[in-house]
Amino acid sequence: MKMSVLFDCTMCGKKARQAPPWKCKCGGILEVIQDLEALAGEIDDARDLFDSRLGSRVPPYSSGVWRFKELIHPTIALSQVITRGEGGTGLYSSTNVSSFAGSNLLLKHDGENPTASFKDRGMTVGISEAVRQGAKTVACASTGNTSSSLAAYAAIAGLHCKVFIPKGKISSGKLFQTIAYGAEVVQLEGNFDDAMRQVQLDAAQNGTYLLNSLNPWRIEGQKTVALEIFQQLEWKTPDWIALPAGNLGNTSAVGKAIVEAKKLGLIDRIPRIASVQATGANPFYSMWKNGSLQPTPVSEPHTIASAIQIGNPVSWKKAIGAIKNTNGVVTQVTDEEIIAAKRVIDSAGIGCEPASAASVAGTRKLVLEGVIDKSETVACILTGNLLKDPVIR
Ligand code: F0G
Repeated sequence: MKMSVLFDCTMCGKKARQAPPWKCKCGGILEVIQDLEALAGEIDDARDLFDSRLGSRVPPYSSGVWRFKELIHPTIALSQVITRGEGGTGLYSSTNVSSFAGSNLLLKHDGENPTASFKDRGMTVGISEAVRQGAKTVACASTGNTSSSLAAYAAIAGLHCKVFIPKGKISSGKLFQTIAYGAEVVQLEGNFDDAMRQVQLDAAQNGTYLLNSLNPWRIEGQKTVALEIFQQLEWKTPDWIALPAGNLGNTSAVGKAIVEAKKLGLIDRIPRIASVQATGANPFYSMWKNGSLQPTPVSEPHTIASAIQIGNPVSWKKAIGAIKNTNGVVTQVTDEEIIAAKRVIDSAGIGCEPASAASVAGTRKLVLEGVIDKSETVACILTGNLLKDPVIR
């Protein structure tokens, strides 16, 4: 395949053809620009190609990420791919959850991934690229799911893994999972945003390969949750895709997937994104609501949904682009609303962790406000498994 990828810096605008490390020399966050024209030229019918791999039992195409390889990481050699069979997660409907939200709901359960959160989709791509670049140590800051995922994939790849965690602020299950997979865990005083600052300093000093979602390859992998939803609907689209929003990598990824899928002709219309924050950790919501040019960080973010307890999201620039490109909206929900939604999702036999329930709580709110019509279909992404944070009922 003759295809190549290009990198675009979201800060200085410089483009690069060589795979840089994880960020631009100017400090800006990079974005992978897929050569969709070349892809369309190389492949007769991308839907057919991606559908033909659905029955594959052999890695990497048995993975719900690498099934879409040409649109994710077209140039990496198959032998360099490190996969545990990500994706392939269920898309459920539940009368009870739909009537709670007030519209026609589909629940995309990304808690069914290998380490029980959506992070594995981006991590298989990020870690494969780390190996391709010859990295020895990989690192991240985390509210617990990224660290669990990175620790697992680093163990498989035989790399050293260093994670920065805000002490006492992540679920014990996620902490134990990260330790069990063999990561070196640095617990810091402060919150996730402090850990995010620290890991970037550490990476700059020690040359570790950073695998938070500011690494552009993480975003490429995470696009596949949207691609899979479209494929499961036989290349039809829901009216909306709703998802919880913290550091904003996933909002960015889903937006990128939608735009690329439309350009490539995989889908024929653009579903709208509903990005949902917790009221105690809502800088993206405030930015969008006030029409500000950048978010004002929340210095002491607080929510029961510890996974999205983030006050200074790194990927806000890409995420606001995703909202604009999809005529999307940003909303916020209280902890009480999150808990109420979680109770309904759990008792429907589906279950999820608190942050994930924000997608359903946000949908309910947007239906009540008349933003989402009762007749519309909303695919809510459940980002993490119930067992990740089972204390709250
Ligand atoms: N849901 C869950 C379960 C998460 O773990 C996260 C983020 C999100 C939603 C928000 O996604 O950051 O892309 O907007 N967890 C990160 C972590 C921050 O470290 O595990 P986002």
